[in-house]
Amino acid sequence: MYKKEIIEILLNSGLEITPNALEYLSYQKDPINFLTDFIEKLNKMDKNQVFITLDLIKQIISEKNEIDIKYEDKETEVPKKTHFESEVKNIKADIGILRDPTGRLYGKGQVEDFRDLFRSRYKKIYLLLMERTDIKGSTSILEAKKLKDKEITIIGIIQEKRETNSKNIYLEIEDFSDNISVLVPNKEKELISKALKVLPDEVICVKGNMWKNDIFMANEIIFPDIPRRNHNKLAEFPINVALISDTHFGSKQFLEEKFRNFIDWTNGRSGNEEQKEMASHLKYIIIAGDIVDGIGVYPSQRDDLELTDIKSQYEIAANFLKQIPEYIKIIIIPGGAHDAIRKALPHPAIPKKYAMDLYDLQNVIMLGNPTLLEIHGIQFLVYHGDSFDDIISSIPGLNYEHPEKAMQELLIARHLAPIYGQKTGLSPEIEDWLVIDEIPNVIHCGHVHINGYKDYKGVKLINSGCFQSLTSFQKEKGIRPTPGMVPIINLQTLKVKLLTF
Ligand SMILES: [Fe+2]
Repeated sequence: MYKKEIIEILLNSGLEITPNALEYLSYQKDPINFLTDFIEKLNKMDKNQVFITLDLIKQIISEKNEIDIKYEDKETEVPKKTHFESEVKNIKADIGILRDPTGRLYGKGQVEDFRDLFRSRYKKIYLLLMERTDIKGSTSILEAKKLKDKEITIIGIIQEKRETNSKNIYLEIEDFSDNISVLVPNKEKELISKALKVLPDEVICVKGNMWKNDIFMANEIIFPDIPRRNHNKLAEFPINVALISDTHFGSKQFLEEKFRNFIDWTNGRSGNEEQKEMASHLKYIIIAGDIVDGIGVYPSQRDDLELTDIKSQYEIAANFLKQIPEYIKIIIIPGGAHDAIRKALPHPAIPKKYAMDLYDLQNVIMLGNPTLLEIHGIQFLVYHGDSFDDIISSIPGLNYEHPEKAMQELLIARHLAPIYGQKTGLSPEIEDWLVIDEIPNVIHCGHVHINGYKDYKGVKLINSGCFQSLTSFQKEKGIRPTPGMVPIINLQTLKVKLLTF
């Protein structure tokens, strides 16, 4: 994608590049910035180089354990240490599991179960909408149809969204009483841009009045959204949580060297002073799904597998994870497409029969997807991100490069997988587990293999990236993964830093 620009910049600097090096540069998270940084370092070194090779890039910009991006301010002085010693080894782990679907999923797949699921969704999000100060009561759709010339507030689930040739948008909305067509007129630009973000099966509030032939004319669309999240009690001590996902053990593209570097860092065997200091406060690792590559995920997957047996894939995962110090708790949730669980959300924890080796590790905690946790008082909503494909293709302006923006839209919708009937399977549970009713401090996802971070109204939205190199599927889709990037969150300050392994 960036190859043309890269060549142009190099030519202007009097440099040439080998095909390998060009490929490598073009797959960086921000290739142009990376290249500019590289040229600057090269000039400083006065190397008199004309040909840029892959070795030269790696030599100049060492990838190993370098904190190359800092999301937030660097903390003050780092004390010098002669040997590595954990500062949190003797601190008692403090994990509260607030919501985990494991063992609590009862949906049998009958039609009435789906009715219950959407009823639960409607009721939960209705209450969230009612907490907003700009919504004071609502009228049922059945009642609304009888009221003319009066401003009315209705709350409903989106059945359908249509755009007419004249760029008006119609939203078909239903509640328990009836359904109605809501017209969003094309001349209301701000309203139209909101309507474009409305997702099928989402619960929203619309203000307006009855127009004609049972059509409701909208003058305001309100999403549930969140109020600013005030920090609750923070940890009393600097305790770090490393967020990773999409390790894909068993895949030929699993990046063993990067993962070994990560393990070395957790043991204090690598990194500079600041990174070792961060490791000395590391008490938790959360893995947000796609632990293994799985089997039979796509037709030619066998060619991409190092291990073609699911149990062996989890066994190798356990072999790697057991090299992490035992005082570090490792929390694992599954991902829908690759881990050995059912495809429909929510997912229970990966079953013991496939992943006994992980269950055997004393410091590993296996949970479902999504899970709400509290670690030293800080709430984490951990969700693989299975619905991102649907969300990214449905909301204008979203893309895979910025998963944090998709996460923000889900938080605004107060639902982790609003759309039913596209790629994301939903299980017909009596309760809708995917409503975001509690506002966490951190939402941690994976799935897209691209690292992303954003603070939205005090909630840290983090997509941790992956430990798998470019797959043929991603190449086809033009997705450029950012492997080996690990966001670290400090529970005392809620500051997030990014390590690159
Ligand atoms: Fe993945």
